[in-house]
Amino acid sequence: MKPKLHVYLKKYKENIEYLTHLTKMYGLSVMLVSKVFCADERLIEVVNKTDVDMIADSKISNLEKIQTSKPKVLLRIPQKTEALDVVKYAEISLNSEIEVIKELNEKARCLFKKHKIILMFDLGDLREGIYYTFDYIPIVKDILALEHIELYGIGTNLTCYGGVIPSTETLHKLKDIKDKIEQTFSIKLELISGGNSSALPMLFKEELPNFINNLRIGEAFVLGRETAYGTAIPNMHEDAFVLEAEIIELKDKPSYPEGELGMDAFGQKVSFIDQGMITRAILGIGRQEVDCKHLIPPSDCEILGCSSDHLILSVPKDKYHIGDSIMFKLTYGGLLSLMTSPYMRREYHE
Ligand SMILES: Cc1ncc(COP(=O)(O)O)c(C=O)c1O
Repeated sequence: MKPKLHVYLKKYKENIEYLTHLTKMYGLSVMLVSKVFCADERLIEVVNKTDVDMIADSKISNLEKIQTSKPKVLLRIPQKTEALDVVKYAEISLNSEIEVIKELNEKARCLFKKHKIILMFDLGDLREGIYYTFDYIPIVKDILALEHIELYGIGTNLTCYGGVIPSTETLHKLKDIKDKIEQTFSIKLELISGGNSSALPMLFKEELPNFINNLRIGEAFVLGRETAYGTAIPNMHEDAFVLEAEIIELKDKPSYPEGELGMDAFGQKVSFIDQGMITRAILGIGRQEVDCKHLIPPSDCEILGCSSDHLILSVPKDKYHIGDSIMFKLTYGGLLSLMTSPYMRREYHE
C-alpha cells in the first residue's frame, strides 16, 4: 500500500553512531530528540543500542511510551497543568517559568522524587527562555530553595524561531550567565546545553566554546544535515527516511490553466509559468500527508503543486507509467508531517 515512508534503520543507527562519536570526542554529551518521529518504537529500539546519553521529546505522551534505560527529557517547556506527568515520565525538563517550576516541585514532592531542570535562556532567537539581559538571579535563588527540584544546568536554543545562527559572540552570553550563577551561589552547574543541530558547524570547525558540554540533536541524526546552513554532513546519510508515492494519472496537458483564475483549495492566489504542453503526473498523496514544499523530488521531476489528496509533478515524457512509484527525499518538516499523519504507512528496513 502506498504512499509509504521507508525507514532505513541501519542508516539511522549509523548517523547516530557517527555524530555521537564525534561529539563525545569533543567532550559533549548528547540528547537525542525523538519528536520528529513521534518516538516510534522501532526507532527507539535503535537509539537504545547507541551511546546517546539521553532521549528528549516535546510530548509527554511520547515520553510515557518510550521504553529505555536512558534518562528521558521533556524538551518543550512544560504546561503547568501537565506537571504531574512531567515528573512521572521525565527525569529532566527544560524550563523558563518559575511558577511552573514550583508546580513541578509540588508534584515531585507528592511522588517522593527529585526532578532535574535545565533553566533555559533566550540569547536573541526569541523563543523559550529567560531573556539574557533580565535579572535572573532572583529566579535562580527561588529555584535553589525548592526541595524537590535540582538545578541540573542551563541551556539555550537558537535558529528554531528567529533563525539566529550560533556564534562565539552569542554563546558567550550563556557563558556569562553560567559564571554569574556559579559565582553568586557557589555552585557548579553540571549541564550546559548549548543548542541543537545548528551548533554542529561550530563544532566541526572546533569553534564551539568548551564551556558547553551538551547538545540536543534531532535533525542531524534523521536527515544527516546541520541546520545553520542546511548542508549535508559528510559521512552521514540523508536518505534514512524516504517517501514512496504512486502515479495515479499521467497525461500530457498544458502548463497554464484555462479560464479566469481565482484562489486554490487553500485560499492562495497561485501563479503559473506557461511552458506549453508538459507531461503531468498526479501522485496519490497530498497535504493530508505532507505539504509538497517539504519534498525533494528526483532531479528529472519538478513539483508543480499539491492539494489535500493530489501531488502534481512535471515528469520526463515516456519515462514513467501508471502505477510506478516516485521516491522523495525529505526536509525536516516533511518527515515531521509524514510521521505524524495517520494516513501514512511505514516500512522498516534493517
Ligand atoms: C529545545 C529544542 N532543542 C533541540 C531541538 C532539536 O533541534 P534539531 O532538530 O535542529 O537538532 C529542538 C527541536 O526539536 C528543540 O525544540
